[in-house]
Amino acid sequence: MGAAALLVCLTCLTIATWVDSYGSNGYDPLHRLLKAKRAKVGLTDTSDWSFELHPQDVYVGPQDGSMEADKITELPGQPTNGVSFDQYAGYVTVDPVHGRALFYYFTESPENASTKPLVLWLNGGPGCSSFGNGAMMELGPFRVNSDGQTLQGNNYAWNNVANVIFLESPAGVGFSYSNTTSDYNLSGDNRTAQDSLTFLVNWLERFPQYKNRDFYITGESYAGHYIGNALIDDETNAWGSNDFFWTHALLPDEIHQGIILNCNFTPSAPDSKACEDFLDQAGVAIGPIYAYNIYAPFCTNTSTPNPYSDVGFDPCSDDYIQSYLNLPQVQRALHANVTGLPYQWTSCTSVIPVWNDSPTTILPIIKQLMASQIRVWIYSGDVDGVIPITSTRYSINAMNLSIETPWYPWYTQQEVGGYAVGYQGLAFVTVRFSGHFVPSYQPARALTMFSSFIQGKLPPSS
Ligand SMILES: *[C@@H]1O[C@H](CO)[C@@H](O)[C@H](O)[C@H]1NC(C)=O
Ligand SMILES: *[C@@H]1O[C@H](CO)[C@@H](O)[C@H](O)[C@H]1NC(C)=O
Ligand SMILES: *[C@@H]1O[C@H](CO)[C@@H](O)[C@H](O)[C@H]1NC(C)=O
Ligand SMILES: *[C@@H]1O[C@H](CO)[C@@H](O)[C@H](O)[C@H]1NC(C)=O
Ligand SMILES: *[C@@H]1O[C@H](CO)[C@@H](O)[C@H](O)[C@H]1NC(C)=O
Ligand SMILES: *[C@@H]1O[C@H](CO)[C@@H](O)[C@H](O)[C@H]1NC(C)=O
Ligand SMILES: *[C@@H]1O[C@H](CO)[C@@H](O)[C@H](O)[C@H]1NC(C)=O
Repeated sequence: MGAAALLVCLTCLTIATWVDSYGSNGYDPLHRLLKAKRAKVGLTDTSDWSFELHPQDVYVGPQDGSMEADKITELPGQPTNGVSFDQYAGYVTVDPVHGRALFYYFTESPENASTKPLVLWLNGGPGCSSFGNGAMMELGPFRVNSDGQTLQGNNYAWNNVANVIFLESPAGVGFSYSNTTSDYNLSGDNRTAQDSLTFLVNWLERFPQYKNRDFYITGESYAGHYIGNALIDDETNAWGSNDFFWTHALLPDEIHQGIILNCNFTPSAPDSKACEDFLDQAGVAIGPIYAYNIYAPFCTNTSTPNPYSDVGFDPCSDDYIQSYLNLPQVQRALHANVTGLPYQWTSCTSVIPVWNDSPTTILPIIKQLMASQIRVWIYSGDVDGVIPITSTRYSINAMNLSIETPWYPWYTQQEVGGYAVGYQGLAFVTVRFSGHFVPSYQPARALTMFSSFIQGKLPPSS
């Protein structure tokens, strides 16, 4: 049995106002998040809580026949040359009393699925869909074409090397729901972690052939916090962002200095007007750029597909996905929305009004995972302005780890794919010229990195 860890540490605040999607102009949840966190309203800092989750305390429902029922026969608009792997989708009930169920999409590997590892992928937001964003925009086997109705294959899909589950979590995100809508008011890290564990235990009953498989959790942003442009620590994140914006020619010296001189980002520090003023000025100075990739264009006109721009990725993808996943025939094929939810599928939720608990740092959890001999990698796209690489480096530095493999350029397709450092118990991997959504912006580099991760070796040094 491979290392198994469950850590779902999503952070969230003003979700109710997040009707935007990842593709929209001006969508900047981190700015809002950090601002609200600094103001310390209505949110419990759970940094020093210990979330003890025990599989034996988890509800386990009957799963007989569910795997067969979840099998996807065909996705509307799928490539005409067929699909060479099995895919499944459906609901797993996590609370039968409240009627709360989480939606998943599972893609097996085309070859040797029975020996390849099992991987859970989680998106962040929080409140953003791992299916719509993770599977359809980033690392899944398909991308939605600009017609919003047909699919094309993704040669760099991660299911080439692993069997991948995409989980829409928590309830209220994507197709996941609760029949007891007051549940949405109880959203937070704790609930998300409990329900995700319940999901996993039940899912393994439904797919018992995976029970003894090597298992990995991967994710991005708030999800997991241990791999993938992870938000690790609010304080180092804030300093890293300031330095990233300044060193990437997005901020003038005086605002960068003003933040240094006026801000105290330790969680216990009082909210400071002078600091907030400089942060607001920073927002104005940076101007309207797409923070998830500081060099990428916005999606401006979905009816004129953006010719795959110089960052190699159509910025309107999110709109195509939204159209596709709201087609009734697509929902039927996916066994999704079987209860007729009274709102549309969106890539980030608008039905969760409040997020109740969130830690200001997950450094203690990372240390705990490392101490349990769980392999931890943290990766970062080096042109992501949402969780910049400087932030990630400061967060890792805060752990004082000893270096086993010093910084080196790693390679894929005869080019430097990024840089890697092997610390004792943790690897740090950068992906060159990638924004926040690494498998979208750098599909080949992302797949090389992921393959190395599951093989337990650092990315190739030549
Ligand atoms: C939610 O309610 C619908 C309608 O009663 C029902 O069909 C469905 O099974 C319920 N969901 C769960 C998870 O219990
Ligand atoms: C599948 O497994 C067989 C037997 O171990 C091996 O020869 C083959 O290379 C594998 N194929 C892939 C794509 O991993
Ligand atoms: C959820 O909380 C909001 C305020 O945040 C409140 O207006 C609403 O009534 C609550 N809904 C339920 C079902 O408890
Ligand atoms: C987390 O939620 C569970 C129920 O979902 C509850 O029993 C537990 O007390 C909560 N833990 C904390 C620290 O609030
Ligand atoms: C978007 O592009 C279409 C087709 O080129 C054009 O007809 C339409 O006016 C454009 N819309 C906007 C808002 O620019
Ligand atoms: C669910 O289906 C209903 C129609 O039955 C549709 O109006 C709604 O937009 C769908 N919601 C989601 C989240 O897919
Ligand atoms: C990290 O190392 C520095 C210098 O060696 C030391 O001052 C600091 O206390 C250490 N921090 C932690 C968290 O161990």
